[in-house]
Amino acid sequence: MSEPLAIGVLGGGLMGSGIAEVCARAGHDVLLVEADATARDGGRDRVAASVARAVERGRLTSADGQQVLDRITFSLDLDTCADRGLVVEAVTEREDVKSDVLSRVDKVLPEDAVLASNTSSLPIMRLAAATTRPDRVVGLHFFNPVPVMPVVEIVTAITTSGETLARAEDFVRGSLAKHVVRATDRAGFVVNAMLVPYLLSAVRMLESGYATAHDIDQGMRLGCGHPMGPLALCDLIGLDTVQAIAESMYAEYKEPLYAPPPLLQRMTDAGLLGRKSGRGFHPAPSSS
Ligand code: 3HC
Repeated sequence: MSEPLAIGVLGGGLMGSGIAEVCARAGHDVLLVEADATARDGGRDRVAASVARAVERGRLTSADGQQVLDRITFSLDLDTCADRGLVVEAVTEREDVKSDVLSRVDKVLPEDAVLASNTSSLPIMRLAAATTRPDRVVGLHFFNPVPVMPVVEIVTAITTSGETLARAEDFVRGSLAKHVVRATDRAGFVVNAMLVPYLLSAVRMLESGYATAHDIDQGMRLGCGHPMGPLALCDLIGLDTVQAIAESMYAEYKEPLYAPPPLLQRMTDAGLLGRKSGRGFHPAPSSS
């Protein structure tokens, strides 16, 4: 394993808590920064539940599980990132929110620190432009559930330096032991560019009454061997996140296949966001 790093994770939602966990499991000192106490407690609970699950399944000893938890400190103050060598931003998928957080943390970080964004679809260059270190800004796009999915997309903006890319690759491969997919800075990168039109076409199929949610998902699981159907996957990702990704891809390409269907908007308006709200296209499974 490489040297332990001082890592900051901004945002303790589904992705941020998973990123904090995998960094702590790799032996790093992790500081997870959230905006308020409720969100911080939610992040802490998610990490604790995931580590407890790993211990139950025998993937971690309880002593190792405790060490993972001990390596994560929680904070409500971005200024506490002043000693971090790498910060991974995983706040809500909105450009104004991400740019604001990145610009604020940029001011307190050591000069040679790398700032990474876990954005699913926003151009890295626009986020880098919110900082004074565009050569040290890179996309690190993790997949959900982060402790399970073995790949990270590394996205370079036109300003990202070769040294930053090398540090990012070393971190993902050498330290987190995950595979790397390199992508250029186009909305959706590699995976979401293919995944999102597929998810949206499942929503359109449901919306038009073509098939039921159960049959759409069953068809793709049993007919194509996918681990879960597209509507269940929307529920796992979060319908608000799927909507936000589709909007930024539509803004970039102006292609109808990326346009979020009205049903998706209605469901997010209704607060039916998937697993995180208890119901989406399906009721949330009781065990997750
Ligand atoms: N956190 C930690 N571990 C988890 C987990 C979670 N949320 N969910 C499942 N796991 C672990 C389980 O502990 C289990 O580990 P074990 O085999 O060592 O016991 C393993 O994963 C399998 O879990 P289960 O047996 O409970 O359930 P499944 O076999 O149905 O797997 C799944 C669950 C891993 C979610 C699987 O259904 C799957 O791979 N689904 C597809 C996920 C996917 O496509 N993700 C990408 C989404 S796109 C994205 O993230 C990009 C973003 O920009 C939108």
